[in-house]
Amino acid sequence: MARDSSARLLLAIETSCDETAVAVLRGEELLASEVASQIALHAEYGGVVPEVASRNHLRMLQPAIEGALAKARISLDAVEAFAATCGPGLATSLMIGTSAAKALAIGFRRPYLAINHIEGHLLSPFFGTAQGIRPAIGLVVSGGHTLLVEIERFGRYHLFGQTQDDAAGEAFDKVGKLLGLPYPGGPNVDRLAREGDAARYDFPRSMLDSDDFHFSFSGLKTSVRYLLPKLETVSLPDVCASFQEAVVDVLVAKTLRAAKAKGCRVIALSGGVSCNSRLREKMRVACDAKGLELLIASPAWCTDNAAMIGYVAAQKLAHGESSLLTSDIDPNLRLVA
Ligand code: KG4
Ligand code: ZN
Repeated sequence: MARDSSARLLLAIETSCDETAVAVLRGEELLASEVASQIALHAEYGGVVPEVASRNHLRMLQPAIEGALAKARISLDAVEAFAATCGPGLATSLMIGTSAAKALAIGFRRPYLAINHIEGHLLSPFFGTAQGIRPAIGLVVSGGHTLLVEIERFGRYHLFGQTQDDAAGEAFDKVGKLLGLPYPGGPNVDRLAREGDAARYDFPRSMLDSDDFHFSFSGLKTSVRYLLPKLETVSLPDVCASFQEAVVDVLVAKTLRAAKAKGCRVIALSGGVSCNSRLREKMRVACDAKGLELLIASPAWCTDNAAMIGYVAAQKLAHGESSLLTSDIDPNLRLVA
C-alpha cells in the first residue's frame, strides 16, 4: 500500500476483556501490534474473572505500549492521536485502557478517540484491502455477540439480526466446559472436531427456517448437555464435530440468505469465532457457489486486538472526528444506538 504522508500516527489500546493489546498505525497502515494474552491466568477459573483481568491490564499495558512503539520505531511524543476501546466489555477493564489513552492525550495535547469494540470487529475484514470499507453484509461472531449487519459505508450500519440468547462463541465455550475442555472452549472444540464425524449426532439447527435473521444457540447447548449422560462412551471429536456443524450450518445459511435479501455481493466475516476452521471453509464454499465475495481477516485479526481499534480510529480521524476527554465507558455499548 502506498504511504500517505498526510496520514496521522496513532496509538490504539484494546482492553475490553482478557487481552491487553496495543497497536501503532500511520493512517490505515499498521506499523506494530502487540497482544498480551491473559488466557492462561483465567484458564484455572474456567472463564474471565473481571478483577483479575483489570489488574493484569494495569500490569501489562505499559510494557505493551513500549513494545509496540519500539517495533514501530516511533517515540511516544511523535504519536498524533490516542484511541481506546470504550465498550462494550468489562467495566473495570475498559477503564484501564481508556484512562491510559486519555492521560496520554492530555499529556501530549493530542486528540482522544473512543472506539466501539464491535465496530472494530465488524470492519476488520476490510483492513489492508485495496478497496477499503464498502457495502457488505457483516457477520460478527464473538464471545459476546452474534450480529448480522448491513454495512453501507463507514459509520453507517443497519443491524437486522442478532442472537436471542447465547452468542456463538459463548455456545462454543459453554459446550467446551460441558465436555471438560480447557478454557476457552472454541479453539479446543475446533481442534477436536477435525477428527470427528459431524453426522454422528443430529443436533438442532435453531431458527434455521425462521423468516427473520435472528439466531438462538442456547437450545443447541442444552441438547449437548442432555445427550452426554445418555452416551455409554463419549467420543469427544464426534460431539465437537456434530455441535460445530450445527452452529456453522445456521451461521452460513442465514448470512447467505441475508446477502440475497439485501442484494449484497460481499460478505465480511469477523469476531473470534471467525477463526473457526469449519466456519471459514463452509462460508467460503457457499460464497463461491453463489458468486459472492468473502472477506475474512486472517485468524490473528479475528480475535481481540488493537489493530482493529486503530483502523476504526484512523477512519474517524480522516473524517475529522474525535471524542471528549469527559466521555465515559459503556460496558453495554451497542453498534447501533
Ligand atoms: O472476538 P473475541 O476474541 O472476543 C470477544 O469480543 O468476545 O472472541 C472470543 C470468542 C471465544 O468465545 C472463543 O471461544 C471464540 O471466540 N473462538 C473460537 C475459535 N477461536 C476463538 N470459536 C470457535 N472456533 C475457534 N477456532
Ligand atoms: Zn472481541
